[in-house]
Amino acid sequence: MNELASGVYNVSVLNPGLRVFDVEMCTNYGTSYNSYVVCGASKIAIIDANHATFADEWLAKIEAVLEGRNPHYLVLNHTEPDHSGAVLACLEKWPSLTIVCSNSAALMIKNISNRANLAPQTVKDGDSLDLGGLTLEFFNAPFLHWPDTMFTWLPERKIAFTCDFLGVHFCEPQVFDHRIVYSREYATSFAEYYGAIMAPFAPWVLKGLEKLELLSPEIVATSHGPLLTRGCLLEQAMENYRQWSTKPENSAAKISVFYCSAYGYTRKLAERIVEGISKALPQSEVCAYDLVGADLCLMASELNSSSAFLLGSPTINKTALPTIWSLLAHIDAVNIVKRPVALFGSYGWSGEALPHLAERLSTLKAAVYETQFKVQFAPTQEDLAAAEAFGNEFAQSLK
Ligand code: FEO
Repeated sequence: MNELASGVYNVSVLNPGLRVFDVEMCTNYGTSYNSYVVCGASKIAIIDANHATFADEWLAKIEAVLEGRNPHYLVLNHTEPDHSGAVLACLEKWPSLTIVCSNSAALMIKNISNRANLAPQTVKDGDSLDLGGLTLEFFNAPFLHWPDTMFTWLPERKIAFTCDFLGVHFCEPQVFDHRIVYSREYATSFAEYYGAIMAPFAPWVLKGLEKLELLSPEIVATSHGPLLTRGCLLEQAMENYRQWSTKPENSAAKISVFYCSAYGYTRKLAERIVEGISKALPQSEVCAYDLVGADLCLMASELNSSSAFLLGSPTINKTALPTIWSLLAHIDAVNIVKRPVALFGSYGWSGEALPHLAERLSTLKAAVYETQFKVQFAPTQEDLAAAEAFGNEFAQSLK
């Protein structure tokens, strides 16, 4: 039995073989679905549920802790199905269990479980539950990373249960941060996790950090990856989140040019566009990325951290190339609003790629540059000069 602190047990499930999370996020080192049991003198609470696939394993771990006792509460800090898919199985085993969650989570869990008659006990910021010698306090932590998210605080043990916040898709059998074996892989996964899951919500991340600092936990028990402890990785993890979520003052504009090119025509346009941008904004950081064969998660991270970007695509089957659409599927839909973007590409027959991309980006409320630069087949010297002028004019529009 894995007792983390007196009366607090780890009932997490490991999934070392997971390689893709949420359909599109690479998880090269697997993940874990963390869950905890807190046993007070009079009441028992389970904190965070589990993925439906692992319901049996999770419930068996809880039963091993309970030794015949019944739990009273199931606290859901967040209802994404990797933490709620096993809720129904849990309720079937312990029908008198009371779900405790935020208002927003209450609505979501009804829809996720298809149980309109569920009646969770909703809690708001500062509410608490007395378990008998142990207390659970609840703090709203919205958009970390769903509207429903909250932290649960166990003051007697100085443990904060933060669900996804400060988590990582990384799977090692040991529970605590000081027992991590592959530190470099952990650090890489931690950064990727932040980029994919928390980065769109940077202002809320900073608020979440403020709340945690006030609590001053000894242990942060996340819902994925190793637990973070004061004196080992907790301080560094929080500092990383702070730095990654804080926009540097007076930082140079970052303008990224993403393209696909079948025969090198769109690539040539991209190269001259970069020249045009660099001449207009010499202090800016301008990079061009060929998407063919590139790591799309990495490209999405570059896109989402760019202050403006351009997409270059040939037209095939009367639209943009699948790789370009895949990149757009990774876009941070929260922060794309009003982001300047321009479109270019070489085409052969009809050239629908650019208007299709413009339509999609407009739907996302990006600031789509009105002029689209397209060339039929191989660009001439005049076309390349015009591409440079296009890049220059787009960059001038950003001033
Ligand atoms: Fe780990 Fe947002 O679910």
